[in-house]
Amino acid sequence: MAVSTAPRPAAPKPLPNMQRQDTWWIEPVLVVATLVLFIIYGTYRAFENNFYDTMRIVEAHGGLKNGVAFFGTYAPHYLSPFYSPPIQDWYESLFHSKMAVSPSLLLLAFPGSFRATCYFARRSYYRAFFWDPPACAVREIAQARRKNYTGEREFPFVLQNLHRYALYAIFVVVLFHWMHLVQALFFSDAEGKSHFGVGVGTLIVLVDTVLLSLYVFSCHSFRHLVGGVLNRFSSNKARFNVWMNVSALNARHGLYFWLSLITVGLADVYIRLVSTGAIRDLHIVF
Ligand code: FES
Repeated sequence: MAVSTAPRPAAPKPLPNMQRQDTWWIEPVLVVATLVLFIIYGTYRAFENNFYDTMRIVEAHGGLKNGVAFFGTYAPHYLSPFYSPPIQDWYESLFHSKMAVSPSLLLLAFPGSFRATCYFARRSYYRAFFWDPPACAVREIAQARRKNYTGEREFPFVLQNLHRYALYAIFVVVLFHWMHLVQALFFSDAEGKSHFGVGVGTLIVLVDTVLLSLYVFSCHSFRHLVGGVLNRFSSNKARFNVWMNVSALNARHGLYFWLSLITVGLADVYIRLVSTGAIRDLHIVF
C-alpha cells in the first residue's frame, strides 16, 4: 500500500481576540443587561412583599363595597407569578398570621434554580459573564485559566447537575400558573359574587402561562425524561411520538427561555400597577 509522504497541513492558528469584525459582542451585552435588570427587579419585588394579589387589596380595603375606586365595579383576581403558589394564603389560614419572611423569597428559589441550571441559560451566561469565550470564534480573554479548566466537574459548577431535579419542582409552578389563569377569568362584584370575564391582565397571564409551559416542556431534561433510557424507540411508539414533539419544541428552547423570562416580569409589573391603582385594568365582564 502506498503511503503518502506529503507533509500534513499545519494546525490552524488560534484566532486573535478580535479577528471577528461583526457585532458578536451585542449578544453578551444584551444577556448581561437583561439578566441584571431581571435580578434587580425580582429582588426588589421579593422584598417589597406587597401589591402582588388584587384580591388582597380588596380585602385590605374591607371589600369593594367600601370603595377601591381604582378597580371600578368589578375587582380582577390576578396573582403575581412572583408570589405563586399562594403559600402566604395557606400559611395565614393555618397559623392566622403573616409569614415572617416574604413568601416570594422562598418561592423564587424554585424557578430561579431551574433557570440558572438550564443548559441554554448556562451557554448564555457563561459567555456573557465569564467571557470564556464570549462568542464563537473569539478567543478566551484569560487564556491562562485554561490550565485549570475543569468544566462542570467541580464545585460549584457540578451543582448544575441538579437541573433534572429542579425540573420536577417547576412542574408544580406551571400547574399553578394555569390555575391562576383560570382565576383571572373571574371578577368579583361589590357583593363578593364572581362573574366570568376577560381583562387585559387575563391576556397577560395567558401569554405568560403559555410561554412558561413552552419553555418548561421544551427543556432538554424533559426531552430525556420522555424519551430516554430506551434501547429502541420501536419498543415504545407512544414515548417516541412524545419525544418527537418535545424535540420539535426543543429547537426553540432558547427563544422560549427569553420570552418567558420577559413575560413573567411584565406580568408582575402589570399586576403591581393595577394593585397600586397606577393603572386601571380594562375588562369585559359577562
Ligand atoms: Fe433549559 Fe431544561 S435545559 S430548562
